[in-house]
Amino acid sequence: MTTPTLPLPEMFDYSLQIIERMMETVEYFPERCEDGRWIYAEKERIPSHWIDGFWVGLLWLAYAHTGDPKFEAAARQWADRLAWLRTETRTHDLGFIFYLANVLGARATGDESLLPYALEAAQTFVSGRYNPRGEYLQAWGRVDGPPIERGRTNIDLMMNLSLLFWASKYSGDPNYAKSAANHARTTRLVLVRPDGSTAHVGDFNPETGAFLRQETHQGLSHASCWSRGQGWALYGFANCYRHTGDEVFLYTARRLAEYVIANAPADLVPFWDYDSLDIPNTYRDSSAAAVIAAGLLELVDLEIDDQLAAKWRQYAADVLQSLWNNYSSRGTDIPAILLHGSRSVPHGKADHALIYGDYYFVEALVRLSNPTLSQKLFLEV
Ligand code: GLY
Repeated sequence: MTTPTLPLPEMFDYSLQIIERMMETVEYFPERCEDGRWIYAEKERIPSHWIDGFWVGLLWLAYAHTGDPKFEAAARQWADRLAWLRTETRTHDLGFIFYLANVLGARATGDESLLPYALEAAQTFVSGRYNPRGEYLQAWGRVDGPPIERGRTNIDLMMNLSLLFWASKYSGDPNYAKSAANHARTTRLVLVRPDGSTAHVGDFNPETGAFLRQETHQGLSHASCWSRGQGWALYGFANCYRHTGDEVFLYTARRLAEYVIANAPADLVPFWDYDSLDIPNTYRDSSAAAVIAAGLLELVDLEIDDQLAAKWRQYAADVLQSLWNNYSSRGTDIPAILLHGSRSVPHGKADHALIYGDYYFVEALVRLSNPTLSQKLFLEV
């Protein structure tokens, strides 16, 4: 398989320059960059911490790519600063946070002392949020809240499963992986539609486990397809296939990828919702494109059909090329790699840089350019 032609050294150099600038300036976990300055997670508002791992993950990638100890030292300091979250039940995103801060860190450095906190986080996550009646993980809300909170799941949770698969392998306890695989099977049934699009949110009766309805939080409507959610699903189902070997997850990831390709605008960077009524006069989400590129490269590694693997790889490279040509901050003074992300259009947050857009952009560059490093960081189960 040939590597598509992208100016990878230039793309890495620029990304590293931005990361170095951020190391000098950010004071807390960066979330979105507006008017040239990063806005941080809010210390007291626990769900806002879902983004904490992306900055640490970006530092680990910088370290793994360069071997420069200054990135390692910074990553360790920032990982220490989020360790308090490992017993926090008020977020469903402990997978995002601790997989990137601790498991990725251990892979980048070989330092296994980073791992016990990740296991503790997996324990907090699954014990508080897995509903065995509906076989889903709870999104948002309090784990002892009313039925509307305990009955809610979302598509983003697919990205939190790798922490649970990892936890089973690390601890020898199969229950983490069992809960993760059950959640993925449920999500496939209730949030993936026959056309390969996804709903953002699903509501259950938490007492009986009965599925009630599709809903949305950041998309246009319950019946629309929120583009970043589609990216989370594509990456998440491919990753589930890696961990379970169950081909139903491979076929699901393929269907999601085909939807992305069939519904892409000319420059391949999706609008914030595939069904927005204002297309083409509405916001893009560069972070969705970055997640899609990284997710497709996860799928490439697992794909059993060589022609499809080549197709996913070329498409991922084309997305990265478009992000680089049309959405990077080059030529501006903005201390982020990608511009024009959309945190949540229904909540009035659009057209800014996003830390997860930057993280998945660099992850995709590593995956595309360095098979040995990718093997070490992403491909081992
Ligand atoms: N997981 C939250 C988001 O993608 O905005």
